[in-house]
Amino acid sequence: MERLGLEVDVVDQSVLERTTSRFGERGIVLPTFHELAHPMTVARPVRAGLDGVGADDADPRNLFRIHWHNDATRVGYAEVPDHVVLGPELTGVEATIVVALADRFPMIGAHKVLASYGCLAPRVITGQFDPTRHRAIWPSTGNYCRGGVAISRLMGCRGVAVLPERMSRERFAWLEAWVQDPGDIVKTPGSESNVKEIYDECNRLAGDPTNVIFNQFSEFGNHLVHYLVTGHAIGEIFEDLQARSSTELSLHAFVSATGSAGTIAAGDYLKEHFGSGILAAEALECPTMLSNGFGEHNIQGIGDKHVPLIHNVMNTDYVAAVSHRATDALNVVFNTDVGRAFLAARRQVPETVLRALGSFGLSSICNILAAIKLAKHSNLGPHDVVATVATDGAPMYVSERDAYLARRYPGGFDEHDAALLVGEHLLGAGEDHLRELDHAERVRIFNLGYFTWVEQQGVPVDEFSQRLMPSFWHEIRGMLERWDELIREFNARSGAAAA
Ligand SMILES: Cc1ncc(COP(=O)(O)O)c(C=O)c1O
Repeated sequence: MERLGLEVDVVDQSVLERTTSRFGERGIVLPTFHELAHPMTVARPVRAGLDGVGADDADPRNLFRIHWHNDATRVGYAEVPDHVVLGPELTGVEATIVVALADRFPMIGAHKVLASYGCLAPRVITGQFDPTRHRAIWPSTGNYCRGGVAISRLMGCRGVAVLPERMSRERFAWLEAWVQDPGDIVKTPGSESNVKEIYDECNRLAGDPTNVIFNQFSEFGNHLVHYLVTGHAIGEIFEDLQARSSTELSLHAFVSATGSAGTIAAGDYLKEHFGSGILAAEALECPTMLSNGFGEHNIQGIGDKHVPLIHNVMNTDYVAAVSHRATDALNVVFNTDVGRAFLAARRQVPETVLRALGSFGLSSICNILAAIKLAKHSNLGPHDVVATVATDGAPMYVSERDAYLARRYPGGFDEHDAALLVGEHLLGAGEDHLRELDHAERVRIFNLGYFTWVEQQGVPVDEFSQRLMPSFWHEIRGMLERWDELIREFNARSGAAAA
C-alpha cells in the first residue's frame, strides 16, 4: 500500500521528529482535510493570520487558502464557493450548467494546488517525506507540478517539476519564478499527451533515494482530497441553487475532463449525497476511454493516453470526447473584445457570465462543452443541474489564443468570424462522441489500465484489481479522518499552531 500513498500510521519516527521540529521553527501549520472542506471551522486566530498575506505569496499561511471558498479577490471569503451559472444564451441548452471557479485558488490560480497538498501532506505526517533530505518530484503536464512546487515551498520542502517541454510558455514563466534552483524544472520530450516520457524520467529520478516521486495518477491522496473538498464544495453550490429556486432541482451529473482523474472523485461524493451521475470527458483527438485511442491534442491538463490508477472507473456513467478544435476556437471567442461583444449583442449573454469567461481555461471550456453534450443527450430541462469546474483560467493560455489568431486570422478577427466559431463549436456541440457506460463498457476501460499499471509500472495485479470493487473506494475514505488526526498530532508536536 505504501506505493499508493495510503499509509495511515507513522512509518519513520525519526523522520517525523525532524519534520515537526523544522515545521515548528518555520511556523508552518497544516490544515486538516476537514478544514479545507469547511474553512469556516478553522480557528479564528489562524483565519485572522491570513489578513495581509497575498494570495500568491510564498507564505505557509496560504495553506489555509487551499479551498473553494476564496472570493474573486482571492483574499476574501466566499460564503458559497464562487461559481457561475450558464444559461441558454451561452450554452444553447435549457439545462442549468453551473461551473465552480478554480482560478480563485492561491499561488497558481488553479485547483491542482489542492491535489498537490492531498499528496504531500499524508507523506509528511506519516514520516515518509523528510524535508531536510528529500526532494519532492512533481510529474505533470502543467498545473499539478506548479501546485507541487508551490506546496513544497510553503511546507519548507524542495520541489522539482517534471513536465513536457512543449507546454505553454505561461507555465514555464511561473515555474521559473517559484523554483529554488533552475535545475528544479525538468523538461521531457513532447507535449500534453506524452505522459509515458514523464514516467520514464521519473523512473530515472527514482534511482536517487533522496527523490520522492509524487505520481498524481496513482497517489490516492489526490482522489481523496477531491472526493471530500471538491465534492463538498459542489454540493454546497447545488444546495445554494436549490435554496434560491422556487422549484425542485435535480443534480443530474458532475462533469470532469480527466487528467489524473483526481477531480472526478468529487463525482463519487456527489453521487452518494445527491444521486447524480458522473461524466468523464477527454479530448476527441486522444479518445482513450471512448475508443482505446491515442493521439496529440491541445486541451492542456487532460487526456494522457492512459487510465489513471485513481480513477474509479466502475462508478463512471458517461464518457464524452470534445475536440481541441472547439476549445481552441472558443478560447478566442471568450477572450477577445470582438468575441465578447458578439456574445453580448447577438446572444444576450448576461454581464455576470461575460465577466466569468476569463476564468475558463482550455479544459474548463472542454468541461462546459461536455456538459452541453450531456444536456442534449439526456434532454435536460432548466430544473436539471449539470455541475462542473473551471480548473484554471484564460490567463494561462494567452499565448495559445494569440498563436491561434495569428494562424487563422492574420487579417484580423471580426464579429462574423466569432459568429461562425460560436455556431460551429458552441451551439453546434452535438450528442456525438458521447457514450453511456454499461457494465461491459466500464470493464473495458478498467482493463485498459492494466497495461500502464501492471505491465509498465509494476503495480501488483491484486492491488490493481481490488479497484473493481466499490468496497475498496469506500474503505479508503476512512483514511481522511485518520490523516486529520495525524495532522492535529503533527501540529501539536511542532508547536507552530500554539505559537
Ligand atoms: C487545467 C487542468 N484541467 C484539468 C485537469 C484535470 O484534472 P485531474 O487531474 O484532477 O483529472 C488538470 C490537471 O492537471 C489541469 O491542469
